[in-house]
Amino acid sequence: MEHNDFVISEEQMAYQSSCIERARELLLGRTGGRTPRAWVDTYGCQQNESDSEKIRGMLAQIGCDLIPGPDQADVIVINTCAIREHAEQRILGNIGALVHGKTANPKQIIAVCGCMVQQPGRSEQIKKSFRHVDLVFGTHMLWRFPELLERVLSDKRRVFSIEDSEGFLCEGIQPVRSSKIKAWIPVMYGCNNFCTYCIVPYVRGRERSRAAEDIVNEVRSLVAQGYKDFTLLGQNVNSYGRDLGGGTDFADLLKMIDSLEGDFLIRFMTSHPKDATDKLFDTMASCEKVAKHIHLPFQSGNDRVLRAMNRGYTAEEYLQKALYAQKTVPGLVMTSDVIVGFPGETESEFEDTLELVGAVGFHAMFMFIYSPREGTPAAKLDDPFTREEKVKRFDRLTALQNEISLRKHEEYIGTVQRVLIDGTAQRGEYNLTSRTNGGRLVHFRGPESLIGEFAYAKVTQAASWALFGELE
Ligand code: SAH
Ligand code: SF4
Ligand code: F3S
Repeated sequence: MEHNDFVISEEQMAYQSSCIERARELLLGRTGGRTPRAWVDTYGCQQNESDSEKIRGMLAQIGCDLIPGPDQADVIVINTCAIREHAEQRILGNIGALVHGKTANPKQIIAVCGCMVQQPGRSEQIKKSFRHVDLVFGTHMLWRFPELLERVLSDKRRVFSIEDSEGFLCEGIQPVRSSKIKAWIPVMYGCNNFCTYCIVPYVRGRERSRAAEDIVNEVRSLVAQGYKDFTLLGQNVNSYGRDLGGGTDFADLLKMIDSLEGDFLIRFMTSHPKDATDKLFDTMASCEKVAKHIHLPFQSGNDRVLRAMNRGYTAEEYLQKALYAQKTVPGLVMTSDVIVGFPGETESEFEDTLELVGAVGFHAMFMFIYSPREGTPAAKLDDPFTREEKVKRFDRLTALQNEISLRKHEEYIGTVQRVLIDGTAQRGEYNLTSRTNGGRLVHFRGPESLIGEFAYAKVTQAASWALFGELE
């Protein structure tokens, strides 16, 4: 498929603008002239958070006030995730519970979108089981939300719109961002990797990269607005640009953003180890604004399991990349994801995971018990191990990682860190939260007027999940 086949044209976007106008009139008609109120709830990853910011942007254009909960809402949008079964169960429960609000306010519109509904059969299931849901739209329909909402409002009937597609690429939706300091910047959408356990490639389509120029312009304008922390998003940012054919890879993109004027940090996630090159680490080392942090999920420390996962690297190759990265980027913070209990993973294969964790020394790790996802190859594999056995392994891994995290964090005690103060949270005597360049959480006391500023903090205490200190 040609890159341009993904791109939504200006005409198509102009049509959505006209739908925004009509939806505004229709919604005002429903509320009797009162400003409509909308609530968007998000599950899943940062990509979904970013999509929700776009949905909020469209709702704001339609004239809605954005509110923080379902009570009083005229429009509710639930943006869903399908990564693990537990996530889906929780979401379905919460959608079910919305029936009470709808009974009290039958004019309320409830929409469900995102990865969960993009799976085969889910839309029909919602149609049948949740009569209070008015609109269901899949991941490839996001840009058409104004049109779909207008259809619900004008036809006064339920709309279900899921398209089986490779995906779209759409510029020009103005997001309403949830922070004035930190911004999510999608650089690519979709995934081509088909790890055998993972639903994402099925619900998010093929890899599509945004034009470097669009990304750089977006960051430039946010820097001018005072944003200080950018996270470039993609399921595998290391394959950025492959579909553009222009020779700009992810490391080149980092350099382009790094060369913009201003005091800010560039973060990114996620990197797939098979595509993380020496060039990437060399670029991280040489670019002043690129945060010294890499989230590099290894998933398993055993070669048979890695092969069965279709990950495309061995444990030794992962370790060598990690060691090169740590040598090349001084002070590098490494974090990772790991799956425990992939079908057929034996006790000794699990112990290879413990070994790799010990050899690399991650500052933090996200650990998951394998969850079968219908339609993925791994879901068809025999799985002789019980949940109980997997939970035991999970607990062992958690204990090991907590020990390592604490040790890594203790290395900060006595140092002075440049941090970005990002909010408040009462934790004992501390009231401010901040992040180091490598993304470590630091709590300390200080005036709230400092939120959004860089400052220096002396670290005095460490825990496995955070650092504590004082303002310098
Ligand atoms: N694109 C990213 C990850 C996206 S999903 C990457 O490749 O690293 C985030 C994490 O969820 C994955 O890294 C994996 O550890 C976990 N995950 C994905 N599918 C899962 C499943 N079926 N069961 C348990 N964990 C899963
Ligand atoms: Fe899923 Fe693998 Fe793609 Fe990550 S790289 S989204 S784990 S298929
Ligand atoms: Fe979930 Fe979709 Fe993200 S499945 S983790 S919201 S890409």
